[in-house]
Amino acid sequence: MASATESRHGMWSSKWLFVLAAAGSAVGLGNIWKFPYIAGQNGGGAFVILYLLCIAFIGVPIMMAEVLIGREGRQSPINTMRHLTKQHHRNPAWVLIGWSGVAAGFLILSYYVVIAGWALYYILQMGSGALHGATAEDAGRMFSDFLDHPLELIFWQTVFMAMTVYIVSRGVISGLETAVRWFMPLLFLLMFVLLGYAMTTEGWRQGVDFMFRFDLAKITPDAVLAAMGQAFFTLSLGMGAIMAYGAYVPSNTSIFTTVSIIAVLDTVVAVAAGLVIFPIVFTNGLEPAQGPGLMFVTVPLAFGQMPLGALFGTIFFILVSFAAITSAISISEPALAYLVEEYNAKRSRVAISLGVISWVLGLGTVFSFNYWADVGVGGQPTLFDFVSWTTDKVMLPLGGLFIALFAAFALPKTVVGAQLGIDGGLLGVIWKLVCGLVAPLAVLIVFISALVS
Ligand code: PHE
Repeated sequence: MASATESRHGMWSSKWLFVLAAAGSAVGLGNIWKFPYIAGQNGGGAFVILYLLCIAFIGVPIMMAEVLIGREGRQSPINTMRHLTKQHHRNPAWVLIGWSGVAAGFLILSYYVVIAGWALYYILQMGSGALHGATAEDAGRMFSDFLDHPLELIFWQTVFMAMTVYIVSRGVISGLETAVRWFMPLLFLLMFVLLGYAMTTEGWRQGVDFMFRFDLAKITPDAVLAAMGQAFFTLSLGMGAIMAYGAYVPSNTSIFTTVSIIAVLDTVVAVAAGLVIFPIVFTNGLEPAQGPGLMFVTVPLAFGQMPLGALFGTIFFILVSFAAITSAISISEPALAYLVEEYNAKRSRVAISLGVISWVLGLGTVFSFNYWADVGVGGQPTLFDFVSWTTDKVMLPLGGLFIALFAAFALPKTVVGAQLGIDGGLLGVIWKLVCGLVAPLAVLIVFISALVS
């Protein structure tokens, strides 16, 4: 049976739309909020280099694998895996990749929406000029006061969830097209404005140094695991988000080219965010390892000192919210597409149910920053840290490992060759080596070394 040429959920109208949509999925809080704070916690330099290596040698091949599997199956990840295992007489256990992706999606979405809600709150704060001329202490206090009010956090969590559900109900294609067409390029532009500002600060050198100075002593098994987890998270890999989007990719689009562009765009935004945030950290004597509040303290501080800061600051947080929403949409797509296929349900109904479930789960994250701030879970300082740890460092890499193995060994060579536009030969060997050996082995080694330590 030949593979389908269209998905029932719709198709990206061009190769560029796929690039924008997948970049919209990849670029989000992971780049602007998470990358700097994880880099800060892991001591900078060495972590950043490890992260870049993980993107190139683990992320890119696994992203290619996800797109090719998705496009071959043309359904939600669960049904794609069902269809492909049946068609090629493989063990049905491979379908677990789809299920674990859906589970990871719920967990990620639950906390993602809470943090995105913080960005919404900061749109108003920046717009009101409340941070004009603020000192580092003022900015820190504003943030911790905000965290102390769970009802406010819940309010913004709810607003963001409602927006996500609304867009998702309209269908990923029409819902996303406008958002990614306009906001992605604007976000890039504004990151560069901020970068220009960061270059003028006293802490610029120190910030750059912190990000790129390679200190061998800082390469611990934990840092390597953090770098790998971050690479998976930031590229939206290991849970089927990219596989789901891959199902809507036109047949004649080159997977290698598009995936490379997406990975580069994503990396540029993350590195730019680091180069914006760390100079501000050092200029103001802040703590690079302060954790999840890092972006919400440093960026408002910078805008507070800039001419037209209130305006730029407002725009910045609007763009961050958009980047977050285009990611949130993709996090829910694997579950959503599956339920629509399975029960022939209306997208809007399914979207609302999914939204409610992950909203409830998200309350755990809300309380991790106030009532339960001192309640450790599973060896992690808070429930939020535990959820983030489980998804980034366990579920996504494991999902990615099996996705790579499936693409390399379970799919027939002819299918993969046709999808990638290579017919055996040297390129085929390179593909097999990278996707079947280098990427899975790297994931395994990182896992084992972190376990042993
Ligand atoms: N890549 C997104 C970000 O960096 C988050 C994400 C994770 C999206 C997993 C989809 C799947 O913000």
